[in-house]
Amino acid sequence: MVNNSDTEEGERVQKILARAGFGSRRACEELVRDQRVAINGTVAQLGARLSPGDELRVDGAVISMLPDAITYLLNKPSDVVTTASDPQGRPTVVELVPTSPRVFPVGRLDMDTEGLLLMTNDGEMANRLTHPSFGVEKEYLAHVSGTPGRAALRQLREGVELDDGLTAPAKASSPGQGLLRITIHEGRNRQVRRMCDAVGFPVKRLVRVRIGPIADRTIKPGQWRQLSMSEVIDLQRATA
Ligand code: URA
Repeated sequence: MVNNSDTEEGERVQKILARAGFGSRRACEELVRDQRVAINGTVAQLGARLSPGDELRVDGAVISMLPDAITYLLNKPSDVVTTASDPQGRPTVVELVPTSPRVFPVGRLDMDTEGLLLMTNDGEMANRLTHPSFGVEKEYLAHVSGTPGRAALRQLREGVELDDGLTAPAKASSPGQGLLRITIHEGRNRQVRRMCDAVGFPVKRLVRVRIGPIADRTIKPGQWRQLSMSEVIDLQRATA
C-alpha cells in the first residue's frame, strides 16, 4: 500500500530508485518531481513510500524493487566460463565482478566467445532478457574463414536449418573481409557458430557487441561497469 507519510512503514520512492541504479538520491528526486515515476499506476509524490507488492514504473517501464538490485556490464574475455562456479576449477565470470551483492550471468556465452555479458542479482530481469518470447536482440561480430557473399547472407537472413530446427530470420551483413555481423534473438546453444558453419563460414573468433539497447566499445576485456540510469530504463523497456 502506498502512502506519503514519513511515519509509516515502507521505503521512500527516491531511495528505491537510487538503489535500482537511477543515479544519486538527488537525481532520483528530480525523476519524481518531473512526474516520470508512477506507483501502482498513479504519478508518485516525492517521499511516497512503497511496500512489497507495489508496482513502480519509470517512464512507463516496470522497475525491480529488489533491495540491492544491481546489474553490471562485463566484457567477457575468452577462456572464462559463464557460470557461477566451475567444478573443473576454470576461471569464471563471477570472479571478474564484485562478490557482494552476489550476481549471476544473464544467459551464456561460450568459453571461447568474448564480449558483452550482463551480470545481475535481479532474477526477474534476467528471465525477461533470456526468455525467447521477449525477443531481445543480441548482436555478434564473427571473424570467419573467407568472406561471406550474398548467398550466405541471404541464408542467414532467411533462416538456417540446424540439427535442432530452422533458425529464426537473422540480421546479417559482412562489414569487411573475413567479418560477419549477425543479430539474432534466439538463444540456442552455440547458435551463431552453428549458423556460420552451416553456411560455410566457420567462426574463428566471436564477439558479442550488443544486448538489446546495450552496447559499449570502451570496456576492455575482463573489465566491467555498472549500468547507467538510462540504460536500466532502456533495458526495462526492451523487456516490457
Ligand atoms: N552463439 C554462439 O555460437 N556462441 C555464443 O557464445 C553465443 C552465441
